[in-house]
Amino acid sequence: MRIDLAQTVMRRVDALAELTEEPGRLVRTFCSPAMRHANELVGSWMREAGMIVREDAIGNLIGHYSGVPSQGGTVNEKIFLLGSHLDTVRDAGKFDGPLGVLVAIACVQHLHENKTRLPFAIEVAGFADEEGVRYHTTYLGSKVLAGTFDPENLKLRDAGGTTMAQAIRNFGGNPDRIVASRIEPSQLLGYAEVHIEQGPILEQKNLAVGVVTSIAGQTRAKVTFTGVAGHAGTVPMNLRRDALCAAAEFVLAVETLGQSRGGLVATVGELTALPGASNVIPGQTILSVDLRHPEDGARRSACKELETQAATIGRQRNVSIDWHIVHETGAVICDRSLSVLLSEAVKVRQPKLALLTSGAGHDAAAIAAITPAAMLFVRCKGGISHHPNESVSVEDVRVAIEVMNDFIAARARLQ
Ligand code: HGY
Ligand code: MN
Ligand code: MN
Repeated sequence: MRIDLAQTVMRRVDALAELTEEPGRLVRTFCSPAMRHANELVGSWMREAGMIVREDAIGNLIGHYSGVPSQGGTVNEKIFLLGSHLDTVRDAGKFDGPLGVLVAIACVQHLHENKTRLPFAIEVAGFADEEGVRYHTTYLGSKVLAGTFDPENLKLRDAGGTTMAQAIRNFGGNPDRIVASRIEPSQLLGYAEVHIEQGPILEQKNLAVGVVTSIAGQTRAKVTFTGVAGHAGTVPMNLRRDALCAAAEFVLAVETLGQSRGGLVATVGELTALPGASNVIPGQTILSVDLRHPEDGARRSACKELETQAATIGRQRNVSIDWHIVHETGAVICDRSLSVLLSEAVKVRQPKLALLTSGAGHDAAAIAAITPAAMLFVRCKGGISHHPNESVSVEDVRVAIEVMNDFIAARARLQ
């Protein structure tokens, strides 16, 4: 009896969503115990699909489905990489990341059940950290595979003071082997990632899937406002150097700039006021700024503009400002020939082809540094994401699997 792989994916999405650090909401961050359970569970599904499973030095989970053994065996065989990330944001939806990994496994399971071997190997990556929740710098897993990981990151400390190096060791990884964990670019034929759209376009067009043309660049900054803490009852208003009021003025400046420049999105997602007591004037405020734009020049000029505005607010309020760029990735154009192959596969399965840009970042942005990369978006209800109401229909998952199976077969015919 043929297994309905779309139903299998949906069941596995639900099973994976149970693996969380916080009961009652989905949080699965880099090198956490929940991620350990996730790697074990997803690894078992990879084995069921006929893959050999390994975990690399930073905790990426990688399944290998070998190709047709060439005369000399399968040494140094070429690899086509599929995958996405297994980590989540806080209070996450259950599809952002896992859907891409599980659809990729379903495609290999389809090959395995049909005893099909390709002229190249397929590898499926469950990347260890795309969201950057624990250490605030994203694409940790995919950058290790791409060989672009910055070893300075190993010194970063999480909210509890644990360095990234220690977190990796606690997880069973090996920070000393990270540089050696990179994949040999010449072995890679390309990368394709399936991901929920996290936007409303496919729903508006009533289409199940779409092909991504480009991925917006992003800048993440950490801004610290330092004034003077004081007694809320005794310090006169005109003598205050209130770090939270300065930050609040800046937060609205971020929103205003985002609204005023086409293509730009600007967000303050985190804000901490210290010491954090109702009867104490905040002496320090730390906040995050997330800037995205399809063009790097426009993003960088917006970043500069906000840094200037923060400095002006600081001068006017006698509050000092520390502006620190935590993470920056340039915009990425998806590979044209892979995207054409993907588009041909889409046109077989649905009446129209939608081409979309991605405001969200994806591991494809990191992997594109070393190999041609393409992305397939799947419709998600209301475009909702980074929220527990994130949802995808089994029918759309079925279309995504069929498109990817056709895409992989078409890529194999090119060998
Ligand atoms: O923030 C993003 O764009 C992605 O969800 N990491
Ligand atoms: Mn995300
Ligand atoms: Mn994602």
